[in-house]
Amino acid sequence: MTRRSVILGAGAYLPKRVVTNNDLAAQMDTTDDWIIQRTGIRQRHVAAEGEFTSHLAVKASERALAAAGLKAADIDLIVLATTTPDETFPATATRVQALLGLTRGAAFDVQAVCAGFVFGLAVADNFIKVGQAETALVIGAETFTRLLDWNDRGTAVLFGDGAGAVVLKASYGDRGVLSTHLHSDGRGHDALYVDGGPSSTGRVGHVRMQGKEVFKHAVSKLAQVIQEALDANGMTADDIDWLVPHQANRRIIDGMADKYRLPREKVVVTVDRHANTSAASVPLALAEAMDDGRIKPGHLVVLEAIGGGLAWGAALVRM
Ligand code: UT7
Repeated sequence: MTRRSVILGAGAYLPKRVVTNNDLAAQMDTTDDWIIQRTGIRQRHVAAEGEFTSHLAVKASERALAAAGLKAADIDLIVLATTTPDETFPATATRVQALLGLTRGAAFDVQAVCAGFVFGLAVADNFIKVGQAETALVIGAETFTRLLDWNDRGTAVLFGDGAGAVVLKASYGDRGVLSTHLHSDGRGHDALYVDGGPSSTGRVGHVRMQGKEVFKHAVSKLAQVIQEALDANGMTADDIDWLVPHQANRRIIDGMADKYRLPREKVVVTVDRHANTSAASVPLALAEAMDDGRIKPGHLVVLEAIGGGLAWGAALVRM
């Protein structure tokens, strides 16, 4: 029997403060209409002062553990995907570990920007498959708005804060993560990066993006990696019950759905309410659709994401 990682439960957390497009239009040269037409975003959540990535991650993790029917003490691996760690070091995952009251197992961060959750899922899945972990928390958590240059309307309107988490458990059977597919290409650096860091400038820096360039790459690379995941499992688009895509732009999401002839009812969309929450976007969407009963045990789910690096990936999961 194949040892696999089953997703036992998922949890989401969004900061209380909601910022609408009109709120942004009051402080920069943009409009609700432009943002909705070009991105599908209507609002985003923004973390409060003193509310850190680890705090969002802990709340999402507690909800994921409750949904899984497990206690924090059952966890022996925490993989936290984030681009906005509390501090340069230690890993924010260790803050989460401590806040959950855990002292055993390993906890570390994974950095693949918006693709981070898919990368983190792949890492934890491989730990479980080889027997190095039994029960893992995989978290995507971001206070991404702290990287924004509020004078740059080309990026400031696109992002939000939040966290999503899943509990993975070793299991023998047909259910679980069927395969993960990861890619990166550092030649894409200039399309999407932060102009700062501890080793380069000593400042945190701000997000810089060539939107059209990233858009082009997103459409082609996400389509390729979904096909790669289907081919690896001898499946076709007809087998897909749910697409849970990275929530960067409604037009990219619709493009993927059209490419694979998926009706809109099979695509989980949160970008209108969450905007782009980077590594948190996929687990936030997954948790929402599991929680409201759309995604059910036995369903075949495709997760995909792309972001800075460029880095991109997909996972095929039998729930
Ligand atoms: O999570 C990582 C992955 N990231 C993504 O997937 C993002 C991918 N890119 C995108 O989603 C889109 O490229 C954007 C939403 C960022 C931009 O949409 P676009 O259709 O590519 O617009 P654009 O950048 O070509 O800008 C079109 C116009 C420009 O004006 P001109 O030069 O035509 O006069 C911009 O200056 O829209 C202007 N513009 C804005 N106008 C109002 C740019 N940002 C804004 C804004 N409000 N916030």
